[in-house]
Amino acid sequence: MLNSLVSSRDLGRHTIELLLRNAEAYGNQEQTGGSDGTVVHLFFENSTRTDLSFQVAAQRLGLRTLNFDVAHSSASKGESLLDTLETLEALGVDVVVIRHQRDWPKELAGAKLNLGLVNAGSGTFEHPTQALLDALTMRQSFGNLKGLKITIVGDIRHSRVARSNLHILTELGANVQFAGPDIFRPNDLVEVPWVDLDAAVEETDVLMMLRVQHERHAERIDMRSYHESYGLTEERLARLRKDAIIMHPGPVNRGVEICTAAMEDPRSQILRQVSNGVGVRMAVLDWCLQGGKHGKLVSA
Ligand code: CP
Repeated sequence: MLNSLVSSRDLGRHTIELLLRNAEAYGNQEQTGGSDGTVVHLFFENSTRTDLSFQVAAQRLGLRTLNFDVAHSSASKGESLLDTLETLEALGVDVVVIRHQRDWPKELAGAKLNLGLVNAGSGTFEHPTQALLDALTMRQSFGNLKGLKITIVGDIRHSRVARSNLHILTELGANVQFAGPDIFRPNDLVEVPWVDLDAAVEETDVLMMLRVQHERHAERIDMRSYHESYGLTEERLARLRKDAIIMHPGPVNRGVEICTAAMEDPRSQILRQVSNGVGVRMAVLDWCLQGGKHGKLVSA
């Protein structure tokens, strides 16, 4: 039975730790390969980082990959996602990596498929591999997440990244808080402190800025006033602690949620997050293919 990763909540602390250790080991290896399996990337929504890093990860593991161009597939003729997945299973595919504009498609709940499914970002639901690579980046910066203060800023209501990070980071002992405009305050997650950004920049260990998810809501936002009120401006950058780090899952809208100076600041870990995506996705693909509850440790 192959493993699937649909929600961060599928992962307990033990498995999160195993995946992070394996991701780090894969990141340090010069030579990889030797895994066996076939992976398909099924991307119904655009992506740069996630799509490419899953492709690099599969190549580095030595997996066979099949191209699936949604626009030119029979999905465009009305074939359901479940029928598509059953077709892929019949073709001998082992793992399907799915990005979808909808929250994790309901028709997949309870489906009897002998496939590993990986959520590569779905609607406003979750993006678990992003949260794993974020946790790895923080661990590389601080050694340990226990007691870290992490402020996630912006469009929390529509953010799958915030939802996955909340679970993974809390499991690892961090304290997560949110900041942003009231219109982006979620109706759920009421247990998470909602703080003032200007106070938070002076005390937070991690400042994670999020993009406004225009494609997921109808609110019209004035970008200039958003930047002044809720962006990482040069003025807030100057007040950020010297030992704090700046994160952003990407894609970035410079001058909206974050200024160019913050992108280029030595405290910015944004490109390191991208690099860590490869090791994390290698660890996740490998864990899916191994099956079993716990998975095995990879040696560096
Ligand atoms: N962080 C992230 O999911 O980026 P992409 O949309 O480019 O994959």
